Amino acid sequence: MFRAVRQLLFTLPPERAHAIAFAGLDLAARLHLAGYIGDRVEDPREVMGITFRNAVGLAAGLDKDGEHIAGLAAAGFGFLELGTVTPRPQPGNPRPRLFRLPSHDALINRLGFNNQGVEHLIERVARADVDVPLGINIGKNRDTPLEAALDDYLHCLDAVYALADYVVVNLSSPNTPGLRSLQAARELTDLIRPLLARRDELAAASDRRVPVLVKIAPDLADDDLSATVDALMECGIDGITATNTTLARDAVAGHRHANEAGGLSGRPLTERATAVVQRVREQAGPQLPIIAVGGIMSAADAVEKMQAGANLIQLYTGFIYHGPPLIAESARAIRASGR
Ligand SMILES: Cc1cc2nc3c(=O)[nH]c(=O)nc-3n(C[C@H](O)[C@H](O)[C@H](O)COP(=O)(O)O)c2cc1C
Repeated sequence: MFRAVRQLLFTLPPERAHAIAFAGLDLAARLHLAGYIGDRVEDPREVMGITFRNAVGLAAGLDKDGEHIAGLAAAGFGFLELGTVTPRPQPGNPRPRLFRLPSHDALINRLGFNNQGVEHLIERVARADVDVPLGINIGKNRDTPLEAALDDYLHCLDAVYALADYVVVNLSSPNTPGLRSLQAARELTDLIRPLLARRDELAAASDRRVPVLVKIAPDLADDDLSATVDALMECGIDGITATNTTLARDAVAGHRHANEAGGLSGRPLTERATAVVQRVREQAGPQLPIIAVGGIMSAADAVEKMQAGANLIQLYTGFIYHGPPLIAESARAIRASGR
């Protein structure tokens, strides 16, 4: 059934198609038709002190404003990562800003953190009634100078703390000018130390310690990746999410959308994201929680990410191309692999 629906949706501009698809998911969830959307695979995972329903989560960026929590949970995800959210609402870049490359199982996006702001998101999360963990991915407003980025992240951390199961500091979107420069070791330490200190204060005040992770890009050179991981470990980070979209275009050269500005995701990212996960695991040792994301387009890709060292995985582009069946297929394959 998903194939027929997809054929129809793919005749529409991508953002319009996504809005219709997620409204459909929400309606099905409201009508208690979850069984028709996707199977819920029960394979509980204990990571960072949180119990995840299964290892397959929704990646950040698809439900930036927490508007489809019920529908996405009904689709079978083991956890959802909402956001990226910024302190103030912002419109993002002008359309068109999302492109399909079906011959490559890929997307290019330059949405630019379009979102309704953190206050709106927390209202949504407070009203949500789902039995899967909710991570919240936080960012900076486009017009906040890079030197003041910490204030934006602190603002978001304070706002979401009471409602988030975990928080991800997004330093790897290619669509907010300069953001990725914050992954360099010195800048990273200056940003992450105070954030973790604030987390510790919030934990002491609430008796609830929310893990904080950092999401990294796939485009860091090996030495830079190594320095980034070292800096994060020294700060005492709770986990790393690898990876965001790539600026590389070699895999899609010649496609009519290949030169659109933005981040490329899906199949062309699979191998690089896996390599980054593997490197992070080798360097960070066996204990550090890793959420792997990037080009998981099949159940086999999901297992490969776990074998590379991930504790959990996430889908975005694969979910757009293959729909809810990919969630259950991946979760079952991971369970069967013994990972
Ligand atoms: C349209 C679109 C919007 C995205 N928005 C965000 C975002 O707001 N924050 C974030 O951390 N990642 C965002 N991402 C990156 C995804 O979470 C994911 O890291 C990346 O797409 C690689 O996974 P995939 O190949 O399964 O799509 C976005 C990706 C896409 C395709």
